[in-house]
Amino acid sequence: MERVIPYDLTIQTARCLLRRPTADDIPHVFAATRFAGFNDGMQWEPPATIDELEEPLTESWRDWDRGITYGLTIADPATNILRGRIGIRKTSRADVWNLGFWMHPEHQGQGYLTEAAIAMLIFGFEELGATKIEASYALWNKGSRRVLEKIGMKFIAYIPHAFQKQRHWVEANKMSITRREWLLGVKLDV
Ligand SMILES: CC(C)(COP(=O)(O)OP(=O)(O)OC[C@H]1O[C@@H](n2cnc3c(N)ncnc32)[C@H](O)[C@@H]1OP(=O)(O)O)[C@@H](O)C(=O)NCCC(=O)NCCS
Repeated sequence: MERVIPYDLTIQTARCLLRRPTADDIPHVFAATRFAGFNDGMQWEPPATIDELEEPLTESWRDWDRGITYGLTIADPATNILRGRIGIRKTSRADVWNLGFWMHPEHQGQGYLTEAAIAMLIFGFEELGATKIEASYALWNKGSRRVLEKIGMKFIAYIPHAFQKQRHWVEANKMSITRREWLLGVKLDV
């Protein structure tokens, strides 16, 4: 049966609040995209103007309603201001979901993303009923690779033509963690 995830879902981690994106996030998303190279490891391009970010926000709400993607803002719990984003998207395979994320460059390297990704695995396996969660990173993207390794994902496939940037194919690695592997890892950590 399709699960209904409420709009007011919040996930509290040790140092972050994960919540549904709002229009107040837009200036912070736009600010992140002004940093050179920020979008190089992701399939979306930096917007030319801030207004271009309104449609993706509406789309993300629509995808939430349709149960396709749950995108969450990673916010500072004290101010509710966006630090980054993380989302989990349904794939065409039953109970297999895909994880994607980014952190505003001013907040990178502090472990917030890893914290949010661990919380999203719990959400995926426990709330969405995922049996496997996958993610891909551009081969050059060492930070992304490290986050995925730290949350227990393992290499499953090399993708020579993952996506295009400036008309050139970007190579990527696909990683995954199954519910069983995750449960074993959780038990080992206790
Ligand atoms: C990838 C990204 C999300 C990582 O965010 P972050 O805030 O640095 O993540 P964390 O602080 O939780 O952890 C990063 C880890 O990667 C490591 N790392 C970061 N850059 C690295 C590099 N160039 N080489 C090797 N390791 C690197 C950090 O040392 C840390 O590992 P550690 O805890 O073992 O020291 C961030 O760089 C980002 O948003 N990049 C732009 C968007 C993007 O590429 N998104 C991912 C698409 S797949």
